[in-house]
Amino acid sequence: MSTATPAAAAPDTVLVVDFGAQYAQLIARRVREARVYSEIVPSSMPVQEMLAKNPAAIILSGGPSSVYEEGAPTVDRSLFEAGVPVFGMCYGFQLMAQALGGTVDNSGAREYGRTALAVSRPSSTLFEGTPAEQSVWMSHGDACSAAPEGFTVTASTDVVPVAAFENDEKRLYGVQHHPEVMHSTHGQQVLEHFLYRGAGLSPTWTTGNVIEEQVEAIRKQVGTKHAICGLSGGVDSAVAAALVQKAIGSQLTCVYVDHGLMRKGETQQVEKDFVAATGVQLKVVDAEERFLVALQGVSDPEEKRKIIGREFIRVFEQAQAEIIAEAGESGEPVEFLVQGTLYPDVVESGGGTGTANIKSHHNVGGLPEDLEFQLIEPLRKLFKDEVRMVGQELGLPDEIVQRQPFPGPGLGIRIVGEITKDRLDLLREADAIAREELTAAGLDREIWQCPVVLLADVRSVGVQGDGRTYGHPIVLRPVSSEDAMTADWSRLPYDVLAKISTRITNEVRDVNRVVLDVTSKPPGTIEWE
Ligand code: XMP
Repeated sequence: MSTATPAAAAPDTVLVVDFGAQYAQLIARRVREARVYSEIVPSSMPVQEMLAKNPAAIILSGGPSSVYEEGAPTVDRSLFEAGVPVFGMCYGFQLMAQALGGTVDNSGAREYGRTALAVSRPSSTLFEGTPAEQSVWMSHGDACSAAPEGFTVTASTDVVPVAAFENDEKRLYGVQHHPEVMHSTHGQQVLEHFLYRGAGLSPTWTTGNVIEEQVEAIRKQVGTKHAICGLSGGVDSAVAAALVQKAIGSQLTCVYVDHGLMRKGETQQVEKDFVAATGVQLKVVDAEERFLVALQGVSDPEEKRKIIGREFIRVFEQAQAEIIAEAGESGEPVEFLVQGTLYPDVVESGGGTGTANIKSHHNVGGLPEDLEFQLIEPLRKLFKDEVRMVGQELGLPDEIVQRQPFPGPGLGIRIVGEITKDRLDLLREADAIAREELTAAGLDREIWQCPVVLLADVRSVGVQGDGRTYGHPIVLRPVSSEDAMTADWSRLPYDVLAKISTRITNEVRDVNRVVLDVTSKPPGTIEWE
């Protein structure tokens, strides 16, 4: 497959140079929160190549290295001599200091965590209007002890004499701390001061611009041909489809494979609400029977995932062949495939840091490599919250746009034990109750997601009415998270938990116990399988 979404012209781009350790993504998001467009580039990119992108400003991120380590990432001095405003943070600050003739030493001046920063130049470009003493987040082993010539030191800490510096004439700025993390109380203000005052940028970038740009680019790319899109019920594919629909209307057909592992009301939501909001042509394939047969007798989580992935691709290919045959009658080929790839996916797959395979995540909508399609990926420059904003602007209902993440294999990985229709129905009911009560309590935005899990292989004794029961437990797994890589269990109010528990045990047959999962990730994963 080839990616052929034309690169949209992006004026006033801030490049965030990634020195590792996940800081760059957060910085890029914060820049966009300041309404300035940003993109991440690896620190291995030659300076010439960075400058060829014509950036309006450059930010050097933090990173885990020491400037003294052999093989540590570095940056060529020419970056600071090109007349482009530069802001170095943490490791980026130390690189800047070192490259321009300042002193960085590893004399043991370490600081980790919340630190008091004393601002010595309250009228400086970065710190104007912020308190003389402010809390910042530090994480460094080396420290700058002398600023380069021509620079003014603007802040210090008890341990570090040069905790920030600037050279207004050359438009070069640096701070030892991490302004991008929320523990730096005035971090966003400092970042905005760099963007607006230091680099002279204006807060003009919005998700509205993205829609206009993408609609135009997609129209140009597709011409009179056809495109197809797999809908999973999730936010990303829904927004990508709506955006492409806006651009090419009836030249797009969406396919939704109902594998029978969906939550209550989900298929109807796609069939009715999504179609009503977008007017998209939709092909719904009812494949429940096929999936249930394929999953019969299987309890192993990885095995389940593999079967679901395999069956999904088969069904999708079949649907796609039908669409191609139908479109062929109009004489226009189907050449494009729409995917809801997001910016973090792009950065992570290009980052190549390779994490261990904990679970084989299967994205329903993921397709085999050998398909001869050009990809349309209109969200590949956006973060999740920005995708939600685009969805809202496109008029998608809140129930779709604000949906919490839901795994591709659906309820299949929330039944511990064999999957049967009976057990799925039971879990669907319990899940619907939990969702209803969390929404009624206004907690949807506070939690990241709340898997509801059926322990189908476990039974315990209970008493209901006047009789003994021997039923299954349901597990509630509410978590809070920023990116699902790590998570903590959500401290939900007891009365909400009580209501969910009472309703589930009263209303769902064969369930006589509700338990709460109080494990963070790690060591637990979010899903149970
Ligand atoms: P875990 O369980 O690994 O989940 O902590 C992290 C996040 O990923 C979701 N998840 C999946 N999403 N296909 C998906 O599209 C999958 O196979 C899959 N498994 C887990 C999970 O819901 C959570 O948001």
